[in-house]
Amino acid sequence: MGNQVKHYDLDDFVREMTAVVEQSERDDDLVDEAEDLVGKLISDTSWLPVEKMEPDADHYARHSLYWDPQDRFEVLALVWSPGQATPIHDHDGTWGVEGVAAGRMKVTNFLKMEDVSDDVVKLRNSGVMTFNQQSTGQLLPPADCHILEQQGDKPTITIHVYGKQLRKFKIFDPLEEEETFKVRKHIVAYTEES
Ligand SMILES: [Fe+2]
Repeated sequence: MGNQVKHYDLDDFVREMTAVVEQSERDDDLVDEAEDLVGKLISDTSWLPVEKMEPDADHYARHSLYWDPQDRFEVLALVWSPGQATPIHDHDGTWGVEGVAAGRMKVTNFLKMEDVSDDVVKLRNSGVMTFNQQSTGQLLPPADCHILEQQGDKPTITIHVYGKQLRKFKIFDPLEEEETFKVRKHIVAYTEES
């Protein structure tokens, strides 16, 4: 006969997120619902195991939390030490939701304007935002390119949900011409937990 309050945890999120991917017909509805669920998931993070909060000295750590058996979504915890950041990147054509579980993150968003050729694109800066703890955001192509930069002197932990297992994406390096970027393919791995 305990009187403990059961907090919303990863199992609750996976159950509700699975129902969302089964019921939603449109990605814009789906991503709104996913963002609401991520907001609930990060409101209390006592469910997050310590090994999923380990940083990586070389770059942000990328911990897998869940992968849907039918590859309709995956859930990750990213851990950012002070100063760690991403280059401009996309998400391989899928939607994404992110939420700040601890710390602060600066997000610079880009809208994909045009594929100039196989390896050159035009991107337009569509704004910079600071995400404080408990904030959430979303990505939906063609507004699916951004830079994430850790802020503050304590580590930042962010929870990410993508519309499939994200193992590769594109990185965009600025060229001399304004809003023009060279495309580079990038493969990502998961952080090995000790
Ligand atoms: Fe991203």
